Amino acid sequence: MSSNRGVVYKGAWNLEVNDIAYPKFQDPRGKDIHHAVIIKVVSTNICGSDQHIFRGRFTVPVGHVLGHEITGEVVEIGKDVEFLKVGDIVSVPFNVSCGRCRNCKKGNTDVCETVNPEAPVGAYGFDLGGWLGGQSEYCLIPYADFQLLKFPDREQALDKMLDLTLVSDILPTGYHGAFAAGVTTGSTVYIAGAGPVGRCAAESAKLLGASCVIVGDMNKDRLELVKKAGMETVDLTLDASVAEQIEQILGVPEVDAGVDAVGYEAHGHGDEDYKKENPNAVINDLFDVVRASGGIGIPGIYTPVDPGGRDENAKQGKLTVDWGKGWLKSLRIQTGMAPIGKYNYQIMQAILWDRISMKTIMNPEVITLDEAPQAYQDFSDGSNKKFVIDPHGMLKGRY
Ligand SMILES: NC(=O)c1ccc[n+]([C@@H]2O[C@H](COP(=O)([O-])OP(=O)(O)OC[C@H]3O[C@@H](n4cnc5c(N)ncnc54)[C@H](O)[C@@H]3O)[C@@H](O)[C@H]2O)c1
Ligand SMILES: [Zn+2]
Ligand SMILES: [Zn+2]
Repeated sequence: MSSNRGVVYKGAWNLEVNDIAYPKFQDPRGKDIHHAVIIKVVSTNICGSDQHIFRGRFTVPVGHVLGHEITGEVVEIGKDVEFLKVGDIVSVPFNVSCGRCRNCKKGNTDVCETVNPEAPVGAYGFDLGGWLGGQSEYCLIPYADFQLLKFPDREQALDKMLDLTLVSDILPTGYHGAFAAGVTTGSTVYIAGAGPVGRCAAESAKLLGASCVIVGDMNKDRLELVKKAGMETVDLTLDASVAEQIEQILGVPEVDAGVDAVGYEAHGHGDEDYKKENPNAVINDLFDVVRASGGIGIPGIYTPVDPGGRDENAKQGKLTVDWGKGWLKSLRIQTGMAPIGKYNYQIMQAILWDRISMKTIMNPEVITLDEAPQAYQDFSDGSNKKFVIDPHGMLKGRY
């Protein structure tokens, strides 16, 4: 049996790379499962969602292995797996989903009803069903035939891995945000947040045919990447409101579609407020700037329990939003985790056929497993890199 190592949660702001158990063909409740595969992890990225855990804003049990953005090589196959073989390079959608429940059958894998006894949502590396994460050398993936996306060619996949590694989460997530907001040919779009998800939403909006893509943030290094990729920016450290800055770009203070790529750890903007947390800020901005009958995609995460919330309401995920103003506009709003399996095949093809290229806007940096705890800290401090962990050195020399 092989050994295994992974990024282990020891408490808020405290991660270690430890020896961990090599995966067994068992679910988190100890039941034997035969629909799973074990993968050797080729790449696994650090996500803004992992940051909520790192900062103590989303609890997981001490000892849990983190990481849900996983790409791997199949090394062992359960006896009920029919369509995968050892050596396949596969993208793992971050949603754990059974393929058998009512929601999965409709493609709504973000709300699988069977993989988490507590709530209809499962993911690796969270407290969402107990599934261990993939920031490790080896990882168990259940319901493998249903869940995994196989890349057509191993060498091509390894060569394009810095883009393909985004297919397990943030690129389909950003795409889902834009798609759900109704972005189509000629749309104007405001994306709140120039983090990795916002930058993926921006490239996705372009892929969907948007005319003008505008991204807002208070982090100037991240906005620089957006400008480098040829898109417009809103600087939230300025006193001018989002609507006023949009008017300077478009001539009108409104857009056709909006995406919240920030979530509940949002800050306010202008003056000193951009330094202070305000979980209502992004939703209210979107209610303000998205035109009547427009759409809003909200991939930014909001949770019903936030131990670090700024007041009692925030601790229970209760926001103060301009609901009346938003309601009158007949807006369409999409919340929730992104159903990665709905989009990952198309996005893989767009990457393989060079319809989309993510390097300029993502600024990826390949790191070792041992460098992961420091990268968590750098990401939390606002780094404009997307950290891609390469646990076996399989990407070394290619980039
Ligand atoms: N729904 C899903 O399936 C899904 C998947 C992946 C990530 N997420 C979530 O998406 C969000 C973004 O992820 P990320 O990796 O880009 O995180 P991130 O924390 O790196 O990026 C968030 C960015 O928002 C900026 N910001 C703060 N307040 C703002 C405001 N009022 N307006 C505009 N920008 C503001 C921050 O400066 C930061 O750059 C997180 O909440 C993450 O958990 C959701
Ligand atoms: Zn993620
Ligand atoms: Zn299901």
